[in-house]
Amino acid sequence: MTNRERGNETRLVHSGRRGEWRGRLVNPPVERASTILFDTVEELRSTKAGLGTYRYGLQGTATQWALAEALTELEPGAAGTMLYSSGLAAITAPLLAILSPGDELLVPDSVYGPTRKFCDTFLKHFGVSTRYYDPLVGTGIADVIGESTRAIIVESPGSLTLEVQDVPGICAIARKRGIVTLLDNTWATPLLFPAIASGVDISILAATKYVGGHADVMLGSVTATAEYFSRIEEVSWDLGHSVSPDDAWLGSRGLRTMAVRLRQHEESALKVAGWLKGQPQVGRILHPAFPDCPGHDYWKRDFKGSSGLFSFELGSADLAARSAFVESLELFGIGFSWGGFESIAIPVDPVRTVGQAPAPNLVRVHIGLEDADDLIADLGAALKRISTS
Ligand SMILES: Cc1ncc(COP(=O)(O)O)c(C=O)c1O
Repeated sequence: MTNRERGNETRLVHSGRRGEWRGRLVNPPVERASTILFDTVEELRSTKAGLGTYRYGLQGTATQWALAEALTELEPGAAGTMLYSSGLAAITAPLLAILSPGDELLVPDSVYGPTRKFCDTFLKHFGVSTRYYDPLVGTGIADVIGESTRAIIVESPGSLTLEVQDVPGICAIARKRGIVTLLDNTWATPLLFPAIASGVDISILAATKYVGGHADVMLGSVTATAEYFSRIEEVSWDLGHSVSPDDAWLGSRGLRTMAVRLRQHEESALKVAGWLKGQPQVGRILHPAFPDCPGHDYWKRDFKGSSGLFSFELGSADLAARSAFVESLELFGIGFSWGGFESIAIPVDPVRTVGQAPAPNLVRVHIGLEDADDLIADLGAALKRISTS
């Protein structure tokens, strides 16, 4: 039986740990290299870059290949994975590999902010136009697709507002029309939403979040079908993308425990969100597993669970009141990113250009691995302070 045929958790533990890469060690070690030495000029000239072939540091060593192979094996139907030095680089590189001047890109209005900025600035300058669509458009995407549409980004759930999209529906329509789909699958990971098997062409992870899992590494990955993988690989090397072996090693180290961490993030986030739901100062809970969350039915249909990131409406709190709330929490850090072992809370103000106006009073939390009851007590004390101030 190959790893690809085994369960998710077995693959998490065993994938990428080829004997020839790790020797007698449990983990492939950190192999640092720029120059690789060859015996002859002929060998140097004829060696083709690719996973498992030592050629030049840019194309990695066993340390990076181990992580790339493990991520590929988590996505049934995928041909390969490229690694990047951040999640954002893992979004921009495949877009540059696929799009040409004159093309149009469709992007959900709920997209991660820096993706929006890249589309509105760099891609625009490069001659690619972006049209934003309502993340809840579902199979109505058929009417949004235009003559020059070349690619569709899906991000499910969306950043900050967590709308769940009809990813299989959108991808099926796109595939019939020869349009490429790219999914930012960072929230769910392939464990909770197997992207390629659901019809996505290119699955992107900000591996900085749940793959790393410890708030100590920046990493991104792109896992793609055979139709797109070679092109993405080639363009990424043309652009000079590479990941340090130390960072790839941290990614592999995090990946081995991702399933158990995700289960705990899920359980604690559901408990905290359920408690928040009963508080008089709290409005809608934008957590995909809650009926308040737009697209909740897609989540029920397509996902195998939920992770630790969600948002909620805090009364009619303006930015100053939401900031005071977040600052008075003792166990929640204030900062960018999420997916680490620790809890984070920030006030968020999403940008929208189409579809439903977002709630003006959102706080986004990432529920870490602390005791959920301690987090609830912390949130309860902070809510009391804003009620009495
Ligand atoms: C949904 C999503 N995608 C991509 C990224 C970008 O990842 P990175 O911070 O590694 O560049 C983030 C970061 O917050 C994110 O939340």
